[in-house]
Amino acid sequence: MGNRRGIILAGGTGSRLYPLTAGVSKQLMPVYDKPMIYYPLSTLMLAGIREVLVITTPEQQEGFMRLLGDGSRLGMEIQWGVQPRPEGLAQAFLIGERFIDGSCCALILGDNIFYGAQLRHRLRATSERPTGATVFAYPVSNPGDYGVVELDEQGNALGIEEKPANPRSELAVTGLYFYDTDVVEIARSVRPSDRGELEITSVNEAYLEAGKLTVEMLGRGSAWLDTGSFETLQQAGSFVQAIQQRQGLAIACPEEIAWRQGWISAEDLARIGGELPDNSYGEYLLRLLGSK
Ligand code: G1P
Repeated sequence: MGNRRGIILAGGTGSRLYPLTAGVSKQLMPVYDKPMIYYPLSTLMLAGIREVLVITTPEQQEGFMRLLGDGSRLGMEIQWGVQPRPEGLAQAFLIGERFIDGSCCALILGDNIFYGAQLRHRLRATSERPTGATVFAYPVSNPGDYGVVELDEQGNALGIEEKPANPRSELAVTGLYFYDTDVVEIARSVRPSDRGELEITSVNEAYLEAGKLTVEMLGRGSAWLDTGSFETLQQAGSFVQAIQQRQGLAIACPEEIAWRQGWISAEDLARIGGELPDNSYGEYLLRLLGSK
C-alpha cells in the first residue's frame, strides 16, 4: 500500500466569515496563536503521515506556500493542488489522484481541530489499518449541520446522511477520513448532490454498502472544534489558549511534533527557534530542547 498520504482541503470561499475572509483565507486565520491549518497539519503528522498535499483555491495558494513551503523544514514533503470552485470534498481525490499514486490516504478539512487524550495513539492505529474506510463520530448539539451517522449497539454504522433535516442520532461525522486504495475509483463514481457538490458522505456510503466502513467514536474527553462561525472560531481560540497556558505545552506545534517523531533533529529545532528572537513561539521551541 505504500506510505499513507495525507490531503488537507483548504479551499472554499469562507463566505460565512466575511469580511474576515475577504483578504485572507479562512484556514490561514488565527486560532489563538497559530494559523488554523497548523491544527489539521498536526493531526496528520500525529497519524505518522509525512507526505501531504495541500489543496487551496488558486487565489489563496501563495499565502499557504509562504507559510509551509515544500515541508522540508519539518522533515516532510508538502505538495500543492488547487480546487478552483467549491465542488465538494470528494473532489480532493480526483485533484489528488497523481499525488495519491495508488497509496492509502487520509483527508482532513483545513478548518477541523482535534484534541484529546490518546488521540495520537488512535490516529496511528487507524492509519495502520490497510483496508476499508474509517471515519470519526462526535456527539454534537447541532447534528443537522454535519454528516450524521447512526450506529447499532455494537458501534457498527447503520446509515450515514449529509445534513439531514431530521437527524437519526446526535453523532456528527468529523472532517477526518482514512481510506484504502479504492477511494479514487469510488470518488470518480460519485454524482453531484442537490447542492451541486461531490459529497464525502457519498464516498462513505459506498464504503458502508460494501461493509468496509469503520466508525471510531470520539466521545467525552476529546474535543472536535468547529471554526465555521465567528462564535465558534473565537471559542476554538479560547480553548487552545486555556489549555496551553495551563500546561505550558503547545497544541498543534508542527515543529515540536516533527522533532518528537524524529523527522527533524535537535539542531534543526534549535535553528528554527533561534530564527525567532523575542517571540514566544521561538522561545517555546528552544525550551523544548531541554525537555525530551
Ligand atoms: C463537511 C461534510 C460533513 C462533515 C463536515 C465536518 O461539511 O460535508 O459531512 O460533517 O464537513 O466538518 P461542510 O463543511 O461542507 O458543511
